[in-house]
Amino acid sequence: MKSIQSVRGMRDLLPPSTATWRWLEHVVTDTLIAYGYNEIRLPLLERTELFARSVGEHTDIVEKEMYTFADRDGDQLSLRPEGTAGCVRAGIQNGLLHNQRQRLWYHGPMFRHERPQRGRYRQFHQIGAETYGFAGPDIDAELLILTQRIWQRLGLKGLRLEINSLGTVASRAAYRDVLVEYFSAHRERLDEDSQRRLGTNPLRILDSKNPEMADLVAAAPQLTEHLDPESVDHFDELKGLLEQVGLEYAVNPRLVRGLDYYTRTAFEWLTDQLGAQAAVCAGGRYDGLVEVIGGRATPAVGWAMGLERVAELIELGAGEAPSLAPHVYAVAVGEGTAQPMLRLAESLRDQLPALRLVQHCGGGGFKAQLKAADRSGAPFALIMGEQELERGEVALKPLRGGEQRNVATTALVDALREAIE
Ligand code: HAM
Repeated sequence: MKSIQSVRGMRDLLPPSTATWRWLEHVVTDTLIAYGYNEIRLPLLERTELFARSVGEHTDIVEKEMYTFADRDGDQLSLRPEGTAGCVRAGIQNGLLHNQRQRLWYHGPMFRHERPQRGRYRQFHQIGAETYGFAGPDIDAELLILTQRIWQRLGLKGLRLEINSLGTVASRAAYRDVLVEYFSAHRERLDEDSQRRLGTNPLRILDSKNPEMADLVAAAPQLTEHLDPESVDHFDELKGLLEQVGLEYAVNPRLVRGLDYYTRTAFEWLTDQLGAQAAVCAGGRYDGLVEVIGGRATPAVGWAMGLERVAELIELGAGEAPSLAPHVYAVAVGEGTAQPMLRLAESLRDQLPALRLVQHCGGGGFKAQLKAADRSGAPFALIMGEQELERGEVALKPLRGGEQRNVATTALVDALREAIE
């Protein structure tokens, strides 16, 4: 029979990459927890309307990329293309936002029907951080500072931070009019996509990668010149805080983001190592969104990190995940050794909970078992033969060089504790 393949753009994640991922997820979530963020778990499916209202009806995500269908009851549902909208929906529905302050994080798959390429998949994974109830720039700074700490802990170097301010909803709307006027005067130079966006989402024209429009876009009026005074202050204070801790950034007045809900601060962490998919973590402030989704006005700011991209940076050698290979591979050879070896392995697991011990299963002679031990990646084999059993000992055999020695089973815990440290 013909075999069945996975869906295009949806990847299987296999060992040893899964070990890198586990470590990456552990470092990111531990850092978030250390800064006082609490985990929230959210459904993969939401009503399509949630994303149309929040991400924006005229964004690429909602217009072209969502996996949308009617379920058996006829409800219009979408696989979540991102986590912020669902987080706000859950916050309102469960009473987490009103008159409260929240620091939350989530983790899981997102779905976008984009053209798959390096660093861009149709199922991808994000860890996101979202905060609610904090109006000032101190929390914007915290979110960026903790991201910097995550890069440090992962050993990642060379990530650049770009920031911008998009102003309040009102100043953004005023800027939108200025842009429409400017681009309308040069309508004949706009490509088809940009002509369409002129009527729906003119800020996105600034994001155009079309080289024939580059000088037109470069000469466009800048958002920073049309900001309201409060947004200017917010942005200046944020920059001051980042400077306090020596976090380097560049202001990019063209950074507009592909989702509609942003106000004031917007930012992206970028790499030069992944080709066109340069953003590894991105986000910003979205003070208007809670109200748009039906809650009371609540300031909010957050980011999401693309785990495929960060994992690829780690695998490119920018950082190194610790090995999850077993510490010891246990081998039993000869009459009557299998059961005592099993009991010994379990008692070691009782006494050393961090020990990664693989017990040989499936039989085979001494040579075959040692070959399996070698393949497991373990630095040590633990060998019980008939003689060792009789003497109450086991052989501890280093598999990557070094002398084999016999250890009394009573002294084994101490010997292994030393070996696994
Ligand atoms: P976003 O910029 O659409 O923002 O996605 C955030 C990150 O997810 C990107 O920087 C990238 O690393 C990763 N990403 C996006 N699409 C793909 C894909 N197709 N394949 C692989 N990785 C991808 C958001 O999603 C916002 N919800 C972020 C946010 C949170 N803003 C405020 N709070």
